[in-house]
Amino acid sequence: MAGQSTYVPGTALTRWLDQRLPILRLVNDTVTTYPTPRNLNFWYVFGAILAFMLGVQIVTGIVLAMHYVPNADLAFGSVEGRIMREVNYGWLIRYTHANGASMFFLAVYIHMFRGLYYGSYKAPREVLWILGVFIYLLMMATAFFGYVLPWGQMSFWGATVITSLFSALDQIIPHLGSAITTWLWGDFAVGDATLNRFFSLHYLLPFAIAGVVMLHIWALHVPGNNNPLGIDPKGPQDMVPFHPYYTMKDAFYLALFVLFFAFFVFYAPNFFGNPDNYTQANPLVTPPDIVPEWYLLPYYAMLRSVPQKLLGVLVLLGAILTLLFIPWLDRSKTRSCRFRPVMKKLFWIFAVDCVLLGYAGAQSADAAWHLGGMDLPLVWLARLGTAYYFAFFWVLMPLVGKLERPKPVPESIAQSVLGKAGESK
Ligand code: HEM
Repeated sequence: MAGQSTYVPGTALTRWLDQRLPILRLVNDTVTTYPTPRNLNFWYVFGAILAFMLGVQIVTGIVLAMHYVPNADLAFGSVEGRIMREVNYGWLIRYTHANGASMFFLAVYIHMFRGLYYGSYKAPREVLWILGVFIYLLMMATAFFGYVLPWGQMSFWGATVITSLFSALDQIIPHLGSAITTWLWGDFAVGDATLNRFFSLHYLLPFAIAGVVMLHIWALHVPGNNNPLGIDPKGPQDMVPFHPYYTMKDAFYLALFVLFFAFFVFYAPNFFGNPDNYTQANPLVTPPDIVPEWYLLPYYAMLRSVPQKLLGVLVLLGAILTLLFIPWLDRSKTRSCRFRPVMKKLFWIFAVDCVLLGYAGAQSADAAWHLGGMDLPLVWLARLGTAYYFAFFWVLMPLVGKLERPKPVPESIAQSVLGKAGESK
């Protein structure tokens, strides 16, 4: 970790251990004395919330796997019958896991938008950001595999739609896409073999996420945290030790987050779910609308906004991969949007754009707004939204970074937080 270690073993035993495996030193330097900017606000608690949610998903997932049967004939019954009705507190574990996925994504979106707003992806934190994008990709894959497991109608048809995207490659090399799709299925349609491998991957990937999270925290601790002002700390007067200041703050907001989470688990457990998934998968009946979970809807809208399949897949891929290039697309010398009047506005338009894309993705493919006597097909909203998404990153970000005149940033964190008192230190 960054800087000199401050750990002093207090007993003969810890001294002995420290010379052989300095694990207590690592813990001390990472979460106790780790110097943290004194001005981190509410939006900085979501990293800790995410770490907690990863733990919740792994623990509840392991218990669910003890009772789940990855077989196309038995999976639906093992979830709706056995886990929900027979296993002691199975309903609680399942609802915690299912709603936990939504809470995890809610937290990760807040975490990512926070990073975008405060310019936390900029040098020297590019690797930190890129590792974050890898985590996000792994999260999407894990959630997709997990959604297939209850083997309801939406599980089956969602899996069919997404895996069939690979068949678009047929347009480049005939039969290549279909061959890849068949290979992914392990059959000539989504079936038992597909369910088995998705279960295996759904169990594996969270541990890969945990590994990348460790790298993410390591990459955070080398340059140290960014902060809402986006300026570098000038000295000890700008910092506080992580413990007790941020351990207490994180714990307090984590408790509030758990209450919010518990509300859904106990009072609205199917709020984020799709009623079609209470019907067992039936390859002979296609649901009228196939929709993914809410956290994937903006990408789904982008995919559907393009009438040509291969192009649609490329747009979808491009939208996700764009995130990897943000550290180099933003040319501004000022990190935080607090001091970037133009970027701040564009950022909020981008946030609304993502919500609108999500809304468009949730509607049927031929849905329209009836405005006066006119019908406005929602696919046009999705097209406009997709265009802004790409324009935001690839055109506006580099351009505004060069042309905008940022407001002056404060001298130091201490001066901004403490005013005159901070200057005299
Ligand atoms: C399992 C998922 C994740 C976990 C457990 C996690 C954990 C953390 C933690 C504990 C911090 C420090 C506290 C904080 O700033 O909130 C942090 C910072 C950060 N994370 Fe993540 N993270 C995750 C996903 C992501 C993703 C998906 C991205 C972006 C694509 C990302 C980007 C960042 C950035 C840029 C920072 C530094 C923020 C700053 O210092 O201003 N993280 N992360």
